[in-house]
Amino acid sequence: MRIFHTVSGLREALTIHRREGLRIGFVPTMGNLHQGHLALVAQARQTCDVVVCSIFVNALQFGLNEDWDKYPRTYQMDCEKLTAAGCDYLFHPDDTEMYPNGLDTQSRVICPTMTDVLCGASRPGHFEGVTTVVSKLFNIVQPDEAIFGIKDYQQLAVIRRMAEDLCMPVQITAAPIHREADGLAMSSRNSYITEQERPNVVVLKESLEWIALQVQEGARNFRELETLAIQRIASAGFKTDYITLSNSKTLDPAAEDDLEITILGAIFTESARLIDNLSIRLD
Ligand code: PAJ
Repeated sequence: MRIFHTVSGLREALTIHRREGLRIGFVPTMGNLHQGHLALVAQARQTCDVVVCSIFVNALQFGLNEDWDKYPRTYQMDCEKLTAAGCDYLFHPDDTEMYPNGLDTQSRVICPTMTDVLCGASRPGHFEGVTTVVSKLFNIVQPDEAIFGIKDYQQLAVIRRMAEDLCMPVQITAAPIHREADGLAMSSRNSYITEQERPNVVVLKESLEWIALQVQEGARNFRELETLAIQRIASAGFKTDYITLSNSKTLDPAAEDDLEITILGAIFTESARLIDNLSIRLD
């Protein structure tokens, strides 16, 4: 695997492949790679000739009181995992390479409305940071295809929307959620979960599954289902940020006649905020 820390170095290397007519696949990450990330690389490997991954802990998408400084950074181990997964190029810029003019004056990409709800409501500015950095990374790598995890459902929906709205010439591909043996969705932030909390955090996934079952059996009292799930999560000892049934495409609150519904949830443990989601089709 070849590693580049500068935009110009990576661009020069990829230009050659683009001229050769090779299909370039791209997996953006913030590092601390787990099986979920590596599955995205494997997926890119299947459909693309050249696989590029990026590791950049993007300050622009973290709130002032969030975990940017303590976000786990495991660069050496990540490099070994990416090499083993068959990644061809790693882009690992530092803050000045990505934001040479500083964060305050950085031009931004805004995807309105969709980013005001769910995670966007409790993390103001987060998605603006994501869309901005992903646009920059798309401009740097110019991939034919970019792979994102369904684990971050709202992020995927927002990026799809951004790419469509701004006519970005890239195919956005979704990859399934990778989970631990008990069902907890893999996440770099799972390392913040304490030992005592760990057996109970699966309540998030179980609550989403319980809602899905009710809806599949005909329940349409969506707001009541949300309230009941929040109570169940409270009994397991966690505060809920949100549990919401949404239209899978627009992320508006689900309407009774919606056929594609995504149930999304976020809960707070002592020092982590965990998210998960589950999509159902009603026909
Ligand atoms: P990060 O959290 O490192 O995730 C990188 C990619 O891995 C995202 O597409 C995410 O959805 C996917 N992913 C994470 N956990 C997963 C799991 N358990 N199963 C499947 N896919 C999973 O998401 C980001 O970084 C950043 O916001 C980024 C897009 C890189 C922009 O900075």
